[in-house]
Amino acid sequence: GAGPLLDRLGRPLTDLRISVTDRCNFRCRYCMPRELFGADHAFLPRSELLSFEEIARLARVFRRGGVRKLRLTGGEPLLRGGLPDLVAMLAEVGGIEDLAMTSNGVLLPKFADRLARNGLHRVTVSLDALDEGTFRALADTPLPLSAVLDGIAAARQAGLGVKVNTVVQRGGNDHQLEDLAAWAREERVALRFIEYMDVGTTNGWVRDKVVPADEVRARIDALWPLEEVPPRVAGEVATRFRYRDGGGEIGIIASVTKPFCRTCTRARISAIGELFTCLFAATGRDLRALVRGGRTDEELSAVLARHWGGRADRASELRGEGGLRGPRVEMSYIGG
Ligand code: GTP
Ligand code: 5AD
Ligand code: SF4
Ligand code: SF4
Repeated sequence: GAGPLLDRLGRPLTDLRISVTDRCNFRCRYCMPRELFGADHAFLPRSELLSFEEIARLARVFRRGGVRKLRLTGGEPLLRGGLPDLVAMLAEVGGIEDLAMTSNGVLLPKFADRLARNGLHRVTVSLDALDEGTFRALADTPLPLSAVLDGIAAARQAGLGVKVNTVVQRGGNDHQLEDLAAWAREERVALRFIEYMDVGTTNGWVRDKVVPADEVRARIDALWPLEEVPPRVAGEVATRFRYRDGGGEIGIIASVTKPFCRTCTRARISAIGELFTCLFAATGRDLRALVRGGRTDEELSAVLARHWGGRADRASELRGEGGLRGPRVEMSYIGG
């Protein structure tokens, strides 16, 4: 058909986020608390995961449905063996304007060159603190902070675009905001602060731990005056701000205090091929069964069109003061 699929609220399907593994080498407290993701946790068995061929096939089907942006997520996507090969396959899909990956960064020194050569455009690296103790407490890893910083440097060296995401938690890392902003100004790296969200049901989210976007903005503005920048494209997740002194830009992702469901263009598929049309959904539509069940691309496209056409998700707009209720998928499973 002409143009992207539209959902019940008129929102086009333009982004696809593909989780390639539910495993991670970090145990961030807000995502994979060690008590629940310990040595005995049942991760998805390899045989359940979509193969790279299956992922590439689905990417083509989504491309026909309107997708122009692809993002690889996890868990930690670089733990999936051969990931640069998948990047090469996705770079061949055609019509993809933006091919990105979300990563914790520690495996980038090993993979950045190959990823860039194979067609990845950019990476978004999670970094919650610049202080060793805070970093380790939050990521719950024996790895040093320098492992992440080296990953960021390797990605830049390889010519990849780099953004840094900081999830802000009151009482966790909110004392680090100014240091992070100063570092990002100096390094000239795009930094985005994210309001802590009640993704999944295991991270002990409470509203009090959310530092509202306005507060983050005011604190940075007090040191280096900011001015808001209009969105580059409709549906941008981050509100952007420019330093008036020419020191670059920062972004704030205010999914709790200023939800952006109205312009949400994102579909997600889990590592086993379930289609989720919202980060806060409980279940997804099993596409793998169709892919493995001998359906044609046309049939897959028709299923996607029906599914997206029936979409009315807007969880963040419906969130009450106490947060979301009911079962919902975990961040490490759906990739954020
Ligand atoms: P760019 O393409 O670089 O602009 O990335 P992005 O704006 O899509 O942001 P990214 O993929 O880095 O996402 C950053 C964070 O924003 C995610 O990890 C989530 O925490 C949050 N986020 C992204 N998409 C959504 C969404 O659809 N709903 C909600 N509630 N949060 C989202
Ligand atoms: N709220 C907001 N962002 C989160 N992330 C993980 N868990 C949460 C949460 N509860 C972020 C990670 C990473 C991206 C995948 O999502 O830090 O940047
Ligand atoms: Fe791993 Fe990212 Fe989750 Fe941290 S937030 S545990 S790095 S998937
Ligand atoms: Fe999209 Fe759901 Fe996030 Fe709203 S809460 S922006 S509908 S993913």
